[in-house]
Amino acid sequence: MNDELKGEVTRGARALVVYPQMRGPRGERNDLDPEARLEEARGLALAIGLEVVEAVAIVIREARPGTLFGEGQIQNISTACTLNEAELIIVDGSLSAIQQRNLEEKLKRKVIDRTGLILEIFGERAATAEGRLQVELAHLDYQAGRLVRSWTHLERQRGGFGFLGGPGETQIEADRRMIRDRMAKIRRELEQVRRTRGLHRDRREKAPWPVVALVGYTNAGKSTLFNRLTGASVMAENLLFATLDPTMRAIRMPGLEKAILSDTVGFISDLPTELIAAFRATLEEVTAADVILHVRDIANPDTEAQKRQVLDVLADLGVIQPPLDDRKARQAPALDWSDDEPDDEPEPQVPIIEVWNKWDLLDPDQAHELREVSMHREGEVIVPVSALTGEGCDALLDIASRNLTRDSRIYSFVLPVADGQRFAFLHARGEVVSEEDAGEGEQGPQMRLEVRLSEREFGRFKAL
Ligand code: GTP
Repeated sequence: MNDELKGEVTRGARALVVYPQMRGPRGERNDLDPEARLEEARGLALAIGLEVVEAVAIVIREARPGTLFGEGQIQNISTACTLNEAELIIVDGSLSAIQQRNLEEKLKRKVIDRTGLILEIFGERAATAEGRLQVELAHLDYQAGRLVRSWTHLERQRGGFGFLGGPGETQIEADRRMIRDRMAKIRRELEQVRRTRGLHRDRREKAPWPVVALVGYTNAGKSTLFNRLTGASVMAENLLFATLDPTMRAIRMPGLEKAILSDTVGFISDLPTELIAAFRATLEEVTAADVILHVRDIANPDTEAQKRQVLDVLADLGVIQPPLDDRKARQAPALDWSDDEPDDEPEPQVPIIEVWNKWDLLDPDQAHELREVSMHREGEVIVPVSALTGEGCDALLDIASRNLTRDSRIYSFVLPVADGQRFAFLHARGEVVSEEDAGEGEQGPQMRLEVRLSEREFGRFKAL
């Protein structure tokens, strides 16, 4: 391995971004627009403090097993690097270990692929013990397939860089064993952390506040909306993945005493498989949510593709039905005002409200057109907002709280005064219409409460 390639991806390094645009009968990789894709790759590089000196899309009709790019293309990349004094090449796609090594040798510069880049970002941003362990696990998994690389970062506590350089072939077996051991240890630690977190969640589930979860593609504006709705100041930056661990705050909602708003990790296309699995846990809050606000950057040309990516992950988590094209196959539109008795359906899916954010960036014609579209989307609840200016946010809270209290009915309960837990639940989750003395019962003084509760909350109440 070339010595000058050793070292780390340092902040401020000059990077050339290359997006391999796959073509050919079966080579279509996704339907993202190359310009938007390059923009996203730029954002990813910026997120770890790299300076992007140039970003180019290169059409690949036939992927070369050894180098991905053809000889002429590699030559062009090399020239672009020289002209721009780039120290690092980011290939915004997936490279095999061999391709990465060959490209590094030919280009005499560090080369990292999309997975490597995302791992770097996740490594920097993970804020909780669990997040850090997950990233390290994913990183080790990635590295296990690339043992020609050095992994000096293992000496450090957290997964770092270490894509480059190499300890020499003789070391590989020992390296592999150490990686396996380290992964096993991390898995054990993760289990422990998860058990603890599970306990915390159980405790919170008993705290009777409905949970509203924000999800969305990276940079859609979740943190900005979270701040707007809570008045809190969670880090909102034009940085991808500014939010890696869920953040939760109490908010006031019309007709409800309180709700918990939960911000989650941003989604991204082509998230490496190792990471999807690793980050599933950070999205567990979403599976326990009462309503999901899917925040979309409606001004982004790729907004539809981003939406599909998000729905795919949610379906993968079992939160919603798979987003089939034939929507009729999907059950339970977000708002269902019908009076029908629910039949014996499987576990209800979490309702989704689509938040069309960055509305302020649309020109009047676009806004008009999109408003028309939004009004004709059957079974979908869409709310245009600008998290930046606050426009539409009150309407959003209104609709979300209507959603939380849908299918509600008035129930009558007689409870011993001493039953603090049930009293608290009814006050938090329902609308108490009346409350009066109901005399003495077996367990002392009692109260009669008339409470408006949704079907779901009534189910929860019974389970208390
Ligand atoms: P991740 O942490 O990557 O998942 O991002 P996020 O979805 O939390 O996005 P964030 O709130 O950090 O916003 C990303 C960028 O979009 C920031 O520069 C925000 O200022 C900007 N932004 C968010 N909402 C709006 C909006 O309504 N209008 C405009 N013009 N910009 C917005």
